Amino acid sequence: MTESAQLPAEIRSGVLNNAGGVYNHNLYWNSMTPHGHCCPVGTLAQAINRQYSSFAMFQQQFKNNAMAITGSGWTWLIADGDGELTIVNTANQQVPDLQQAVPLLVLDIWEHAHYLQYRYNRERYIENWWNLVNWNHADALYRQCMTA
Ligand SMILES: [Fe+2]
Repeated sequence: MTESAQLPAEIRSGVLNNAGGVYNHNLYWNSMTPHGHCCPVGTLAQAINRQYSSFAMFQQQFKNNAMAITGSGWTWLIADGDGELTIVNTANQQVPDLQQAVPLLVLDIWEHAHYLQYRYNRERYIENWWNLVNWNHADALYRQCMTA
């Protein structure tokens, strides 16, 4: 995935679609726990408050991004090597540029992720997802990217 330009052109999009599907869902599962905290912890909590003023404002921006996806995609919290946070969307099974940033959290915005429980109420799915977020995992990834 990080060297996709070297893949033969005729298999590149197929490989990226499948690898992205695995990578994205792995992080999605690891972004959640049945024992979620109310809110961010550790160094990541400090960075969120510094950059977004509050966790509530961060959540609003994350939701705005997720609601803006048309079709299938993902909403991510990523960090660069300086610890700067960004919320980004990708379409289909695309992954953010892993040469430039470390993904910390990701939310699946494919319809299959919410349809059975929430039908078309994507907003409710997003709001309830916060109850499951594994902030310890996201903070551990954040601290790793800061020391890399
Ligand atoms: Fe999915």
